[in-house]
Amino acid sequence: MKGVIQTGFGDPGEVLRVGEVATPAVDDDGVLVRVRAASIHIGAVYSVRGFPKVMRPLFKSLNAKSGVIGQNMAGVVEAVGTNVTRFAVGDEVFGSCKGAFAEYAVTTSEALAPKPTNLTFEQASALGVSAFTALQALRTHGKLREGRHVLVTGASGGVGTFAVQIAKAMGAEVTGVSSTRNLDMVRSIGADHVIDYTQQNFTKGEPEYDLILDNVGAHSLADMRRVLTADGLLLANGAPAPTGWFGGLGHPLKVMVSSLFSKQQGRPFLSMENEEDLSTLRELAETGKITPVIDQVFPLEDAVEAVTSVGKGHNQGTSVIAM
Ligand SMILES: NC(=O)c1ccc[n+]([C@@H]2O[C@H](COP(=O)([O-])OP(=O)(O)OC[C@H]3O[C@@H](n4cnc5c(N)ncnc54)[C@H](OP(=O)(O)O)[C@@H]3O)[C@@H](O)[C@H]2O)c1
Repeated sequence: MKGVIQTGFGDPGEVLRVGEVATPAVDDDGVLVRVRAASIHIGAVYSVRGFPKVMRPLFKSLNAKSGVIGQNMAGVVEAVGTNVTRFAVGDEVFGSCKGAFAEYAVTTSEALAPKPTNLTFEQASALGVSAFTALQALRTHGKLREGRHVLVTGASGGVGTFAVQIAKAMGAEVTGVSSTRNLDMVRSIGADHVIDYTQQNFTKGEPEYDLILDNVGAHSLADMRRVLTADGLLLANGAPAPTGWFGGLGHPLKVMVSSLFSKQQGRPFLSMENEEDLSTLRELAETGKITPVIDQVFPLEDAVEAVTSVGKGHNQGTSVIAM
């Protein structure tokens, strides 16, 4: 089968190639999926580049044994192991695996859910890391409640487009920060207010946000404090693209330390994919509360270009590789 193989750490154009690898074998607990679409999140690009270097062992462990990269996909079940009862050959599914950027990928049944019937394979594949991150940020870490005012930076990106929709589904008042070209899109997915970061610095505004989900990391906690309510919370999700051994980890750490001296809390968090939230995302999609925003769809042959493009950091939603 064809897949996107990583040969080392570096620029996607230098260390990725589309080539032939063996189709993964299915063990007793495994599910083999014929991948129809796989989504690319910015973290996948960081792991190809290998920064911060301290995380290289973890990055390597995310790839399939064959070196094929990619974590989130949607497709059709091709074969199941003898212990698998939840899925059968022919079922349409989405979920996570190692080696999603390939014609076939193997995973476990816990990492899969039935594909929402109202979504295309491209859309369903986008219900991955970015969607989990938005859901867990707002619900678990932010404890967002109805009527609360939330500000989402990077509202036009992979995480932001899910965050705006999930926050609206939770009954919050939502302000999205994006550049001029994305204002209409951010409004169209439900933001009550939009701020153009090329025209206005939102940290100079009034203290009105109960929660800020910062997907960008362009402002310090000191700046954010001015616009947070007295007991507001900053979730530091984004940081400038990582470099060196620890680059990218400094910003969330600074936020955490400076919040020790204030009632207004700031903290980073790590999202985790799990079976329960996979079902929650499926339900949100099936009830029309979230619809993945798809940026570009690339054929598998152009996957290296696709990863390079996502790495520029100007996604409008999520880009996808279609098989
Ligand atoms: N905590 C976790 O476990 C976790 C999980 C996933 C991702 N993340 C992090 O979350 C961050 C966002 O990821 P993503 O997948 O959403 O990235 P993405 O898809 O690349 O989107 C980034 C978005 O930010 C916008 N942007 C850039 N500068 C901005 C600014 N100053 N103000 C407002 N928007 C700005 C870009 O829009 P323009 O084109 O308009 O500039 C783009 O749409 C990354 O740093 C990633 O590492 C963390």
